[in-house]
Amino acid sequence: MENKSLTIAIDGPASSGKSTVAKKIAAELDLIYVDTGAMYRALTYQALEKNVNIKDQNALVQLLKKTDITFEPNEKGQFVFSNGVDITHDIRDNNVTNTVSVVAAHPEVRKLMVKRQQDMALNNGVVMDGRDIGTVVLPDADLKIFLVASVKERAERRHKENKEKGIFSDMDQLKKDIAERDYKDSTRDSSPLKQAEDAIRIDTTKMTIDEVVNEIKQLIQKI
Ligand code: DC
Repeated sequence: MENKSLTIAIDGPASSGKSTVAKKIAAELDLIYVDTGAMYRALTYQALEKNVNIKDQNALVQLLKKTDITFEPNEKGQFVFSNGVDITHDIRDNNVTNTVSVVAAHPEVRKLMVKRQQDMALNNGVVMDGRDIGTVVLPDADLKIFLVASVKERAERRHKENKEKGIFSDMDQLKKDIAERDYKDSTRDSSPLKQAEDAIRIDTTKMTIDEVVNEIKQLIQKI
């Protein structure tokens, strides 16, 4: 199949390696990478900046309608812009990380986000990562991957990333936060994190990033 029209959905829980893997595959196959988590984070960031109540679905919908979210590729992955401002780093802030699951749980917010995500894939080959890509956003994707890893392994990866950035983090707290986010993402009423029936599950606990990327590339060759 022509790469240009390929649609690849990568779902899985927080810190399962989705975005690192998705970015690499998109770069190697010259596809557009869409980080849907960054879109929910961008809206959360704007809500916190503008003092919009994150429990108020209607207020969030109004805010989202006025919020432009775009991606710009760079050598490390991509920049995230909202209303023309670079918010790539701001959306990774703890304030955003700890509140984004409340924003992402509103069904009307999800409806608008899903529409934007589907539009991005309309005339483009994409690698899209998130929680509901294989089940809701791109149910007809050419390949669906569901990445998992143990909570301990994911906490260790996050700990290492933080250390490299000079950020102190406590392993027990990281494990607690990851388990809590898994719980919230998979038990919410609207499009909970769930493996699509036709998705291929890859447990990355004992795998390197390159091993995961190679396994997915082999699956792509079989499409
Ligand atoms: O992948 P991430 O940590 O950047 O995602 C941020 C939050 O957004 C997380 O709580 C799950 C949610 N999310 C979602 O509900 N649906 C998606 N398609 C992507 C992310």
